[in-house]
Amino acid sequence: SSWRPSSRASPTAAASSAAPSPVASATSASGSASASASASSSPLALAQPSVESQPDSLRCLVNKMRPFAQQDWEPSDLVEFYGHQLRAEAAKAADTMIDAAATDGVTLLVSSAYRSYAVQQQTYQYWVSVNGQKVADQLSARPGYSEHQTGLAIDFASPEGCRLEECYRDTLAGQWLAKNAPRYGYILRFPDGRQSVTGYRFEPWHYRYVGVQIAQEYVSSGAKTFEEFIGTGAAPDYASAS
Ligand code: DAL
Ligand code: ZN
Repeated sequence: SSWRPSSRASPTAAASSAAPSPVASATSASGSASASASASSSPLALAQPSVESQPDSLRCLVNKMRPFAQQDWEPSDLVEFYGHQLRAEAAKAADTMIDAAATDGVTLLVSSAYRSYAVQQQTYQYWVSVNGQKVADQLSARPGYSEHQTGLAIDFASPEGCRLEECYRDTLAGQWLAKNAPRYGYILRFPDGRQSVTGYRFEPWHYRYVGVQIAQEYVSSGAKTFEEFIGTGAAPDYASAS
């Protein structure tokens, strides 16, 4: 089925491209996570474990430290979207974006969009079976912790290939998105070199809808991650193992 990727970099190849050193945990006691996090040299303070209780908000933040308060929450306004589903507003904006890319001669394909708790469980288990849990946790969210469950995230693909691989960055689609997505309300959610904040390796294909206004605020803020922008702190790992 559609969530199952046809290929991905082997664990060996993927491992070579990864991972800044573990985030410093000494700063976790600090109350204000966002205050001095503008420079890439100053690590974001570690987030306190929390939950996202307003997952239908365009400002919602779901990550390893911030699962859905209701673990199997579902959006109420999903629409059909290129053989997948997405929340209505996000789908409308993505349609406009896909048309704009086409006008520029660039084909944006959709690899995945909304994933329910149950589908994310299958997705995560697939990556565990391929790579083992330690690597899977750098690629795929555990069920109840995935932004795809908000109905606001899209994994794009490209006719050139590089599906769910770091080389997606270099495809026409990847380059077009990196330059233009915020104009349509989408931001790159797992940037290169920010695993210590987002908890995941670089995903040049994964875009999150926040709306045009928040996307513009995000760009002008200079924040490198949505965690930094929202100000909840870094979420490199789950609060408790399992
Ligand atoms: N690949 C992203 C992190 C997810 O599974 O939600
Ligand atoms: Zn994704």
